[in-house]
Amino acid sequence: MTESNPPAVTVLGLGDMGTALAEALLAAGHPTTVWNRTTARADRLVTKGAARAGSVAEGIAASRLVVTCLLDHRSVHDVLGHHADSLRGRVLVNLTSTSPDDATELATWAACHGVDYLDGGIMAVPPMIGTPDAFVLYSGSRAAFDTYHDTLAAFGACHYLGADPGMAALQDFALLSGMYGMFAGMLHAFALAGTEGIEAATFAPLLKRWLSTMIGFADTAAEQIDNGDYGRGVVSNLAMQATGYDEFLTLAEARGISPELLAPLGPLMRQRVADGHGAEDLTGVIELLKTKSNGSDTARTGSDA
Ligand SMILES: NC(=O)c1ccc[n+]([C@@H]2O[C@H](COP(=O)([O-])OP(=O)(O)OC[C@H]3O[C@@H](n4cnc5c(N)ncnc54)[C@H](OP(=O)(O)O)[C@@H]3O)[C@@H](O)[C@H]2O)c1
Repeated sequence: MTESNPPAVTVLGLGDMGTALAEALLAAGHPTTVWNRTTARADRLVTKGAARAGSVAEGIAASRLVVTCLLDHRSVHDVLGHHADSLRGRVLVNLTSTSPDDATELATWAACHGVDYLDGGIMAVPPMIGTPDAFVLYSGSRAAFDTYHDTLAAFGACHYLGADPGMAALQDFALLSGMYGMFAGMLHAFALAGTEGIEAATFAPLLKRWLSTMIGFADTAAEQIDNGDYGRGVVSNLAMQATGYDEFLTLAEARGISPELLAPLGPLMRQRVADGHGAEDLTGVIELLKTKSNGSDTARTGSDA
C-alpha cells in the first residue's frame, strides 16, 4: 500500500498509554486511526483529529503501521486473533508490556502470517510520552524499526536492542526491577525518617540528592561485573557495609518499622563476607543471585535466613 508522508498509523488500545501514544502521533502530524474496545475512550482523540475505526478490521485496513497498546499479552491475542490475514504485509509494533517469551510467541505468530513484527517496552508514564524524558526499547524486525524510526520517535527516544524479539521485554523488566528496588528503599527511608516526625516533603530533597549521587554506582558495578572482578576500584568494602546494614535494620525494628523491604540483602551480604569476599565490593552479591535454574553452575550454598 502507498504510504502517506508522514505515515498513517493505527493505534489499537486507548487506555491511558494508548491515548498518550495516539496524541503524540497526532501532534507529530500523522494521520492517526484509533480503535478501543470501549468505544467512548476514542471520543477525545476524535475531537483532536483522529479517525475512529468502527472495528479492529477497519483499523488495520487504515494503515500499514499498526501499533497495539493493550493491557497484557492475552488481550493482544483477543484483539488480533481473528485478524491475522488482514495484517499480512503490514508492520505490527506491540507496545503492550509482555514477558520475553510472550514477545517471542507473538513474533512467531506474526511471522507465520507474513506480518513484520517489532516488540516494544515503553520506559515512560503517559504524561511523559512525546517529551525528552521518554524512551522506548524495541527489538524484532530491524527493517520495521528502520522504516518507522522517525514515526516511533514521536513517542520518545528509540533504542533498538536487536533482532531477538524478546530482548526489549527482558530489558524493560530489568529496568523496572531496578526501579522497584529503588522505590522499596525510598519507602523504607521515608518510614524511618517519619519515626522522628520528619515530613516526607522535608526529607525528599535529601533523599533525591543522595540517590542521584549514588546512581553512579551503576558504572562501577558494570565494570566489576563485566570483568568478574569485584575487588576492582573498591571504595566501600563489603565487610564494612554488611556491619552497617545490620545496624540500620536493627534501628528500623527498634523504631517500629518493618525491615521487610530491605531485609533480603542482609543475609546475602553476610554470606559473601563469610565466603571470604569482605574486602570486595557489594557487587559480588550478584554471584549469589545465580541459581541452577538459570543455567549457571553457581548455586547458592548458604542459608537464606
Ligand atoms: N500507564 C503506564 O504508566 C505504562 C507505562 C509503561 C507501559 N505501560 C503498558 O502499556 C499497556 C497499556 O497500559 P495502560 O496504562 O494504557 O492501561 P489501561 O489504561 O488499563 O488500558 C488498558 C487497555 O487495554 C484494553 N483491553 C484490556 N483487555 C482487553 C481485551 N481483552 N480486549 C480488548 N481490549 C482490552 C482496554 O480496553 P477498555 O478501555 O475497553 O477496557 C484499554 O484500552 C500495558 O501493557 C502497560 O503495562 C503502561
